[in-house]
Amino acid sequence: MRIILFTGKGGVGKTSLAAATGVRLAQLGHRTLVMSIDPAHSLADCFDFNTDLFHLETSDPLQINDKLSILELNIQREIKRHWQEISSYVSSVLRTTGISGVEAEELAILPGMEELSAMMYINQYRREHRYDAIVLDAAPTAESLRFISMPTTLDWYMKHIFPFQRNLLRAVRPIANRVAPFELPTDNYFVNIRNLFEKLEGIGEIMEDPRTTSVRLVTNPEKMVLRETQRAFVYFSLHGLTVDTVIVNRVLPAEVMDTWFDEWHRSQENVLQEIDEYFSPVPVKRIPLFAHEVLGKDRLQELAKVLYPADEDPLAVTRTDKPYTFEKRDGIYEIRVLMPFAVKGEIGLFKKGDELVVEIGTLRRHIGLPRSMAMLRPSRAKLDNGVLIVEMQEGQ
Ligand SMILES: Nc1ncnc2c1ncn2[C@@H]1O[C@H](COP(=O)(O)OP(=O)(O)O)[C@@H](O)[C@H]1O
Ligand SMILES: [Mg+2]
Repeated sequence: MRIILFTGKGGVGKTSLAAATGVRLAQLGHRTLVMSIDPAHSLADCFDFNTDLFHLETSDPLQINDKLSILELNIQREIKRHWQEISSYVSSVLRTTGISGVEAEELAILPGMEELSAMMYINQYRREHRYDAIVLDAAPTAESLRFISMPTTLDWYMKHIFPFQRNLLRAVRPIANRVAPFELPTDNYFVNIRNLFEKLEGIGEIMEDPRTTSVRLVTNPEKMVLRETQRAFVYFSLHGLTVDTVIVNRVLPAEVMDTWFDEWHRSQENVLQEIDEYFSPVPVKRIPLFAHEVLGKDRLQELAKVLYPADEDPLAVTRTDKPYTFEKRDGIYEIRVLMPFAVKGEIGLFKKGDELVVEIGTLRRHIGLPRSMAMLRPSRAKLDNGVLIVEMQEGQ
């Protein structure tokens, strides 16, 4: 099973591109699911579907044709299904601080729940061999980018904190509940977290395997949008996902001759050049601005033809470069982390147990070190052409 993840700033065209990819894949005979995890859903609209019919109380994908289904993830429904225990505990704690019921429930929707729910479905479908391809339409905000690190974070939590916390709480609950301003989490809460964890097991590796998961970054030929695309690229690289294509959507066609657009042509050309240079060797595709919205199946097909010219297979694995590698050179151990655009000052680096912790801005990535390197310490780090090279040596 292949997972193709489209992400980009709001309005750049990710839903249209994800849907067009789904249409093409189905045509090629692949059993395909297009799944939206962007809370600003427009997937059903994009197929020109009657959305009144669509928002039924079910999480079953909606079948468009014999090979193609779509699913818009509804966070309220997901909470009822998977997160009830956790979110009702969080909202009960919030209520003790004087926050009203409804507001507490709103706040108890933790960032990343939508994405984690999506991963549970992906994992389930993978185990059931239900689809050949899952196309994801994902929001790119800092919050939701964090979801890509969640499986590893959860894994870490389950190994290090969970057993300890649970035992501790078992011991103190009878006394603590008499004095604490709010109830401590029940044992159910922990059972629930463990169930969730089991549903997510293995998904981290799936997302990091470039033969399974490819990220396609969608952008527009505008400076403001480009900055956000670069930031997304760094985060995905850091979290071990492989970006195999950058898609520049809405490029003004040369046929547009009106002088009103002269300045647009010039600035787009500059940004396009900048994009090619920045993302190289990742291939950049250009999609023109159409004379109309991309609405309904015919228009999606038209977009798919431009996106996948000739016989290009949207599932082809074109890049397998690992965003980070471990090597031993001349007696010195080296970790190489692809970090395009990162500047030195922004990178934090330290060792914690058998993990190397790399920080960029507010994000943090635990890189589990191979056994042979677990006893080593980072001795030197340098940034070389977008690659962070960390030297590890034996030391105190
Ligand atoms: N290349 C294009 N030419 C013309 N309209 C486009 C193009 N790509 C997307 N659109 C339109 O732009 C709007 C936003 O696209 P959408 O795919 O919903 O963006 P996103 O999912 O990134 O928010 C939609 O109305 C869509 O039909
Ligand atoms: Mg969208």
